[in-house]
Amino acid sequence: MELQEALRSTGAIRDFTDEPVEDETIIRILDSARFAPNGGNAQSWQVALVKDPSVRARIRDLYVAGFHEYVAMGAAGLRPWAPITDPEAEAAAIQRGREAHESGAPAGDFAQHFDRVPAMLAVAADLRLLAAMDRDLDRYSIVGGASVYPFVWSILLAAHGEGLGGVMTTMAIRREPELAEVLGLPPTHAFAAVVVLGHPVERPSRLTRRAVGEFATIDRFDGRPLR
Ligand SMILES: Cc1cc2nc3c(=O)[nH]c(=O)nc-3n(C[C@H](O)[C@H](O)[C@H](O)COP(=O)(O)O)c2cc1C
Repeated sequence: MELQEALRSTGAIRDFTDEPVEDETIIRILDSARFAPNGGNAQSWQVALVKDPSVRARIRDLYVAGFHEYVAMGAAGLRPWAPITDPEAEAAAIQRGREAHESGAPAGDFAQHFDRVPAMLAVAADLRLLAAMDRDLDRYSIVGGASVYPFVWSILLAAHGEGLGGVMTTMAIRREPELAEVLGLPPTHAFAAVVVLGHPVERPSRLTRRAVGEFATIDRFDGRPLR
């Protein structure tokens, strides 16, 4: 596939056919993704290809728990889990989300059937290897993630190249201690995503994104739009 087309069309896919994804395909995908950029070339990523149905079911339950909080925050007009937010409104929304979860409220097809995806890859990073340059600032730290998310994105691009689709998910990470226990993640590591892959039922024809002039400026962030 042509690179520009791949960059513009690798959208989130959550609906898969029953066709399985072979281990050989996953290995090829990871074999391409491993060339992703990362701080100091420390290659902090670790991947678990999750096959065991009972483990998948536990991950689904953790995903659903996070999903209910996500929906409740959205319903409250909040950007879910934004590092800068209205803490009181968020706490109230999280409480409503937990109540919805405990009452067994439905969570939507993708979440409810999260365990049935053709391929599930848990991606974690070794915190001892991240170059988190903004770690000591008095704000939420973002740079460390950049040593693992290009790798995750490359998984999705490489999967697209294989005729597959998928999505990086993070809902289950709301319950990271339980997820770590389920997947045997050591305390030196943190989850980055649970990536799911499969053969798409259909692909989006066009992705919705802001235009360049809306997010790029000249010289300064309060400068003229780059058009
Ligand atoms: C950091 C991150 C976390 C995400 N977490 C989830 C998730 O938990 N569940 C999910 O269905 N999609 C998740 N997504 C996918 C986004 O919803 C998706 O990339 C975005 O809505 C754009 O979709 P599109 O490419 O189809 O336009 C996540 C994406 C990113 C980058």
